[in-house]
Amino acid sequence: MFDSGCGTGQSTARLAERHPEAWVIGIDKSLDRLGREGRTLPPNARLVRAELGDFWRCAQAAGWRLAAHYLPYPNPWPKARHYKRRWPAHPAFPALLGLGGALEVRSNWRVYLEEWQLALGSLGIHAELEPIAPETPAPLSPFEAKYLASGHACYRLAADLGLGTVPRPSWLAYQARCEAADAWSRPVLETFLAVTPAASPLRPALEQALAAPPLRKPAGHKGDAASDFFLWAADTPAREQLHRALEQAREAGDDPRLVFARRALETA
Ligand SMILES: C[S@@+](CC[C@H](N)C(=O)[O-])C[C@H]1O[C@@H](n2cnc3c(N)ncnc32)[C@H](O)[C@@H]1O
Repeated sequence: MFDSGCGTGQSTARLAERHPEAWVIGIDKSLDRLGREGRTLPPNARLVRAELGDFWRCAQAAGWRLAAHYLPYPNPWPKARHYKRRWPAHPAFPALLGLGGALEVRSNWRVYLEEWQLALGSLGIHAELEPIAPETPAPLSPFEAKYLASGHACYRLAADLGLGTVPRPSWLAYQARCEAADAWSRPVLETFLAVTPAASPLRPALEQALAAPPLRKPAGHKGDAASDFFLWAADTPAREQLHRALEQAREAGDDPRLVFARRALETA
């Protein structure tokens, strides 16, 4: 996990305590803040002094993928002339997206998080925005503690960046991916699984395909369930077997689930 802009590292320590299964890296450019409290960190936490954009780019280039990425109370840079310093307009934003994981940004500036929501939405990434309960027992960071204690409202934006594959910002691009030869829809795979005998060697392949992460739908997309597509390796023997199973189903003919599966497969 990354705790980006971790300040004194309090949030890094909290996150590491809450997630003993994870490595938590707190990153901040201010040596003064990082060293201010001389804290002892849990063994699964480290603090790094770095410029965030550089660190994100290097981590992404090195193939790092995050389980979670926290940005507690980043500077919102509210003046219009500072627009490019806000992360959603920053040149390093694609690197942040490329790191993937469960993204959580916190701020007392709702409009700043709305800007995040718009930027993510334009890329087809859905983000939830909600207030943080004022009675939060242990605020995540010093800024959160300060704002909540002074009666400010604080907000949390959460989005799933998955494996860091940045979707292209267009419905047509999304559709093209759905129509690619290696995309199968969840209803089709589920239908096949439902009619595949327990001993069939197809079952593990189907189960594996269903466990793969889905392609993201663009925000506001109103398609039907059959557009819930999953990528699957194009040339696996299991895929060939599935094609054969489809042919047999076509000959057998009249099971309504298979008719549905056939129709969906023909358009996939
Ligand atoms: C408003 S403070 C919040 C600190 C802490 N997250 C908290 O909630 O208490 C923002 C922090 O982000 C750090 N920061 C801002 N821009 C940065 C950048 N480009 N690279 C690294 N750190 C940055 C600052 O040094 C500062 O510690």
